[in-house]
Amino acid sequence: MNKDFIQYQAQTSLHPLGLEVIDAKGSYIYTSDGEKHLDFVAGVSATSLGHCHPTVIKAIKEQADKYLHVMVYGEYAQAPAVEFSKLLAQNLPDPLNKVYLVNSGTEAIEGSLKLARRATGRTEILAAKNAYHGNTMGSLSLMNFEERQKPFRPLIGDIDFIEFNNADDLNRITEKTAAVILETIQGGGGFIQPKNNYLKKVKARCEAVGALLILDEIQPGFGRTGKLFGFENYEVVPDILAIGKGMGGGLPVGAFVASEELMDLLSDNPKMGHITTFGGNPLVAAACHATLRTILETELMAATLEKEKRFRELLVHPLISEVRGKGLMLAAIVNSEEIANNVILDCKEKGLILFWLLFEKRAVRITPPLTISMEEIEEGCGIIIDVLNKIKNKA
Ligand SMILES: Cc1ncc(COP(=O)(O)O)c(C=O)c1O
Repeated sequence: MNKDFIQYQAQTSLHPLGLEVIDAKGSYIYTSDGEKHLDFVAGVSATSLGHCHPTVIKAIKEQADKYLHVMVYGEYAQAPAVEFSKLLAQNLPDPLNKVYLVNSGTEAIEGSLKLARRATGRTEILAAKNAYHGNTMGSLSLMNFEERQKPFRPLIGDIDFIEFNNADDLNRITEKTAAVILETIQGGGGFIQPKNNYLKKVKARCEAVGALLILDEIQPGFGRTGKLFGFENYEVVPDILAIGKGMGGGLPVGAFVASEELMDLLSDNPKMGHITTFGGNPLVAAACHATLRTILETELMAATLEKEKRFRELLVHPLISEVRGKGLMLAAIVNSEEIANNVILDCKEKGLILFWLLFEKRAVRITPPLTISMEEIEEGCGIIIDVLNKIKNKA
């Protein structure tokens, strides 16, 4: 299969991991060579309930027996999308009460940017250095990496960058600013949490100058940090919330959420200011609803913090300088890029799936399903420590 994978499927890098997947259940992925792999990555923070969670599969099967795509987003009332949007809005603080469903995280960002410009009549967007918001033209415009932007210019205009956690940059937010967009916890940049009430200060400055705050919760959202959304840890409520990844229980999805007053602007002047064919797809929305119900009705969110504690107890080693992040959005920062590469590749050979972060090269990503058990955490961390010991002894 790998030969055809390389030949017929467009590649994203020269060295894909290339596991030949035949099955995946709970915290494990099974491959064509008969091996099983403990998954500490969860499809990059996406399969939060583990692989093929029975409640999600049941909801998908039941919906598949009723109807699939029947109409473009926003025309017909379809129970899966309506019920999911209602439950989500009921579990979000005011004024986040209207949900626009799209198909991916980057589309949620595109919709958020359009809404901010439409609502304020301003054009300037301020993003953070080292942020990642996706790869379509608008989202890519928010990434201040020359190497990644250069071949694709011209990107969208009037974007500028501030430093995450730097209060001195707050005066860059002015009456010209339509929105400030931030990841609640910076992901690709190294799982950096906001410090010293940074998000509260950004929000206050935005309010003072009439700019909007967009928080990208595509990675921390849906329970990964011990709360339903990461911003709940930092006593701030964004004007626009962008979500995705973990919300779909393994299906592709995104959404942006705002007040009714803001969101209604997209349906008028111009009419159909934002449209999508498959946003709110019934099968996907049924999976989202089952996922959200499961997160809300179980102890998973609270257990996330216990599991973080166990990871921190176990991941102690001279080659690990720190463990960053919150809940089950963790990164072990090792002493060099080479060690990070070796840990990820050697652990893969020993049946443990780890991954890189986009920009912080010394990081080893640990974002397992929220359903991971303490025994599985112990098993996986044991493999990491064994591999680190071997690397240390070789040096
Ligand atoms: C914080 C953040 N924003 C946006 C995205 C883009 O989401 P998607 O890949 O679904 O377009 C990602 C994906 O990794 C992300 O981590």
